[in-house]
This record gives sequence, C-alpha cells and structure tokens, in this order.
Amino acid sequence: MTINQKNQQFCLGIESTADDFSVGIADFNGEILANTSSAYIPETGGIHPREAARHHAQAAPAVLQEALTQAKIKPADLTAIAFAQGPGLGPCLRTGATVARALASYIDKPLVGVNHSVAHIEIGKLQTHAKDPLTLYASGGNTMVTAYASGRYRVFGETLDIALGNCLDVFAREAGLKHKKGLPLGAAVEQLAAKGKQLVPLPYVVKGMDLSLSGLLTAASTALQKGAFSLEDVCFSLQENAFSMVTEVTERALAHTEKREVLLTGGVAANKRLQAMLASIAAEHDANFTVVPQQYATDNGAMIAWTGVLAYTYGLTVPVAESFVKLRWRVDKVDVPWVKQP
Ligand code: ATP
Ligand code: FE2
Repeated sequence: MTINQKNQQFCLGIESTADDFSVGIADFNGEILANTSSAYIPETGGIHPREAARHHAQAAPAVLQEALTQAKIKPADLTAIAFAQGPGLGPCLRTGATVARALASYIDKPLVGVNHSVAHIEIGKLQTHAKDPLTLYASGGNTMVTAYASGRYRVFGETLDIALGNCLDVFAREAGLKHKKGLPLGAAVEQLAAKGKQLVPLPYVVKGMDLSLSGLLTAASTALQKGAFSLEDVCFSLQENAFSMVTEVTERALAHTEKREVLLTGGVAANKRLQAMLASIAAEHDANFTVVPQQYATDNGAMIAWTGVLAYTYGLTVPVAESFVKLRWRVDKVDVPWVKQP
C-alpha cells in the first residue's frame, strides 16, 4: 500500500532564520519523517546575513530533495508547507520564505507561517511529552522563560541584552576558539568548562525576573586577556554565573506559575551543566524536568513542520501575497489555539 492510500497527511517545514537552512517533514500524528540541514559557517566572526542567505539559496534544492527522500514521499503527497516567518535575520528569512512560496505555489498547497520561538517550544513538548511546561528557551538569539496562559506563551523573564548562546559564542570567538564541524562554539566552551576548577569573580546580574549577560561577557573576556586565569577556569566561571542567573529566573517563574513540568529547549539545551542546574530546581519544586533531544535542540526543520501541523489544523494558513517575514515577531504575540491548559 502506498502512503497516500493510508490517507496519511504531511507537512514540510522550512527553517532559515539564521545560519542553518533546514527542512523537516512531520505527519499529522507527530511522527518526524525527515529532518535535514545545511549549515553556513562564517569564515570569520559571526553570521554575515547576506552570505548566509546566499548559502541558503544554494543549499535549498539539495536539502529539500534529501528531506523528501528521507520521508519517502513526493511533493504532491504534502498537505501544507510551513516556513519560519520570524523572528530572525531578514535576508535569511526572506530566502526561506521564497523557497516555501515557490514550493506551495508549484504543488498548489497552503502556506503556514510559523513563529520560530513557538516552534522551539512545540518540538520540545512533542519530543518529551511535556503537556503544560514552564519552558526555558535558550539559544543563539533568545533567552526567555515562558509558560502558556490565556491563549499564548507568555514571557515571565528574559535577557535584557544578549542571549545566552550568543554570550558563549562571542566569548569563544574572543578566546580564539574556532568552529569545528559538528561542534557549536557553546559546546566548545562546555568542554573546556568541564576542566575548570577555580571560580573567577564575575558579575551576576538578575533584575527582577530579567537578567543581563553583556557585562558578564565583557568581564569574562577581560579576565582572560589579563592572563591571570586559565581558559578552562574562565569558561567554567562564565557558565556557572550565566547558568545560575537563568536558573534563578526559571525557579522564580516556577514558584509563581506552579507548573508541574520544566522544559529546556533551544540550542543551549544541549549543555549538561545547564541541564543539571535546572533539574535541581525542578526537583525542589516537585516538577518534572525534561530536555529537548539534541537533534531538535538547535535550529531544525522538523520543529517548523510540526508547528505547521498544529497551526494548519486550526486553519492558520497564510496567503502567498501576505506571507512577508516578521523580523521581530515576539513569542507572546502569537495565538496558539491548539494548546489546551490541562
Ligand atoms: P534563535 O533560536 O534565538 O533564533 P539560533 O537559531 O541561532 O537562535 P539555536 O540553533 O537554537 O539558535 O542555538 C544555537 C546556539 O546554541 C549557539 O549559540 C550554540 O553555541 C549553542 N549551543 C549548542 N550546543 C551547546 C552546548 N553544548 N552548550 C552551550 N551552548 C550550546
Ligand atoms: Fe533557534
């Protein structure tokens, strides 16, 4: 029997908000049938948006084909095409949106615009079976504590300046660490931190429910440049301070919301030390702690495909003419009618 005869429905998701061009395919029961990606690696410094967008345009045909091959389906088998409509870098978002529009028009199927931050939360819930979690979403561009209330994911606390992943990445670059294939800079800091022993005095800035990481980044880089401490000790101290700050805010939000689950999602979720700190506060509050699996932690097409399924099921499609990208689309501006508070 072919897939169509089984009447299975599929959504293809395109993710291109930053340095990855990724495609995933989910069926309407939450099975991930494909998840594949091509990464843009800058020759120097951080992401150059136009160079990344050029990479995405070149990578798109092969990544799309690979996803369809993995899922063993044809374009005509798709029910909907989802794409990350924001937030993200303009040129990168526009490239993904162009690919999505072209594919949707070609096969004459609806487009679904997905919020990237909502997608990080939904893939975490899907994979860990968390129902109504307090979520720490920590990535290259975001650090926020969210929980569902009255139709949306509300923000209970967030960074006032740079994101946790960005803080680790910039420190790593200033320390001269290089991108290795398959090893994000944050993971390189994690490996070094595991060998650190001594705590270097660094700032700790929590303001109410929010936190600030830019002073910590400057202080860590300065401490390293002065040469009084080893790279391992500075990595260790940077992690201890930054992770304690986000853990403190998460714990306060947990006490306030009285959620029974804590979910860690986004690229920094791969970090074992951060996982351990959050596990300990969850245990103190009798909450269940879950972490998004590694392959769905950093940006991926599967999370867009699955959130596309949820939105499509509630009729949330977008006409091609109105499918412009939203560079600063905050998570708490997005209605999530598929979420039901238990
Ligand atoms: P956003 O989701 O805010 O748009 P992004 O898409 O760039 O940002 P992700 O792909 O979700 O972010 O996450 C990438 C970040 O995760 C990078 O900053 C990277 O260094 C960090 N990261 C990946 N692995 C680890 C790790 N083991 N420890 C710490 N950080 C990590
Ligand atoms: Fe992301």
